[in-house]
Amino acid sequence: MKIVLIGYMGSGKSSIGIELSSILGYKFVDIDSYIEKKEKQSISSIFKTKGEIYFRKVEKVYLDEVLNDNSSLIIATGGGTPCYGTIMNELKKSKDVITIYLQTGLEELTKRLYIEKEKRPLISHLDNKKELQDFIRKHLFERSYYYNQSDKKVVTDGFSVREISKKIVLQLF
Ligand code: S3P
Repeated sequence: MKIVLIGYMGSGKSSIGIELSSILGYKFVDIDSYIEKKEKQSISSIFKTKGEIYFRKVEKVYLDEVLNDNSSLIIATGGGTPCYGTIMNELKKSKDVITIYLQTGLEELTKRLYIEKEKRPLISHLDNKKELQDFIRKHLFERSYYYNQSDKKVVTDGFSVREISKKIVLQLF
């Protein structure tokens, strides 16, 4: 089985993925880290030197590579992964995959991303909090169309990583 965590940047996909992996004993794969290892370059540097179109191409190639692994996995995607090409449809069609949307509200995302925006090329240039929040609002609206197609949804606001992970496990089994 592959448990695929999707959601906006800063929604906690990686931390929750690590926690789920320790609860369920499944291996954890973070697609961003996988891309960085394979490409021998940071995500920011890929965006800067090769551009977003190249990034989206390799993001799909490496996601497919990870999904083809025979073992049970917890996969943390990047915030944009399910929103390009046919990725969301393919995930939905795959019998082996359960997609879980980590739904985090605008205020919480803004608060978290304002502190951690440097390593995220899509928002690193937005240095004023209001500008960042306006960007997230519109971007999240566009992307929610894809996120909302997930098999399961978990609201994360107000809950700890452990509590969210437990909620997910209860929904799964
Ligand atoms: C992106 C999110 C990032 C990373 C890249 C693009 C996006 O991952 O894949 O910077 O399009 O939302 P996180 O969601 O882990 O920040």
